[in-house]
Amino acid sequence: MGRPYIFGTNFKMNQTPAESAAFFEQVAARIAPRSDVHCYIIPPYTSLQAVTELARRDNIPIWIGAQNMHWAPEGAYTGEISARILLALGVDLVLLGHAERRGLFHEGDPELNRKVQAAFAAGLRVLLAVGETGEERQYGVSAETVARQLKIALYDVPVEQLALLSVAYEPVWSIGAGGTPASPDDVAPIATVIRSTIADRFGDVGRQVPVLYGGSVNPSNAGSFTALEDIDGLLVGRSGWTVDGYVATYEAGLAAYSD
Ligand code: 13P
Repeated sequence: MGRPYIFGTNFKMNQTPAESAAFFEQVAARIAPRSDVHCYIIPPYTSLQAVTELARRDNIPIWIGAQNMHWAPEGAYTGEISARILLALGVDLVLLGHAERRGLFHEGDPELNRKVQAAFAAGLRVLLAVGETGEERQYGVSAETVARQLKIALYDVPVEQLALLSVAYEPVWSIGAGGTPASPDDVAPIATVIRSTIADRFGDVGRQVPVLYGGSVNPSNAGSFTALEDIDGLLVGRSGWTVDGYVATYEAGLAAYSD
């Protein structure tokens, strides 16, 4: 069975609700739905209602994601949002373990395991981000780092819930304006480690989990990543923040993709 091409952007702390809604409508008008493709956008929490309302009204199949989530369904967690709250809005997926959450907000692997389990138990898709820091890369422990992050995040997850999982490999050193873009030669071996770590834990069904690449992706380099055997799509930041950039990067990645 072929794995679909999965493409989208994380807006980080950018966009008002009106800006997200306009972006979403314009992207939906430019990208024709296909059965072998899933597109997504991950705007700030405060945009989710406006965008999910549009998706329902116009029957737009683009997945809408949140950038984080707490593991408890409700409770005394000021400033936090739960799977229950996200699902009530019609949100499709949650991004967990983004490098900025891990690095700037000190999210650890055991905490992410609780979040992954809570999202799956609620029936929410998870886009789990993993990736080594520049220092870990320098010491030659990229593969071990990513395998450890995956094993802990997926600890005690039942195999029946695996269909809700996608993984994004985002080397921390490649992200953002200060990042150095990775090369396909950097990405290919780690994508293979991700695939085999999940398959070792879950068996053959683990091989169907989509693996995305993210970090300084743009229309010029997108195809070099999606052409890799173990890469099934992209998690884009800056290049996806304009409608033209989103569409151009989507198309470049799709043109080179083969499952
Ligand atoms: P950039 O594409 O801006 O490097 O960001 C990648 C990212 O962090 C997406 O989540």
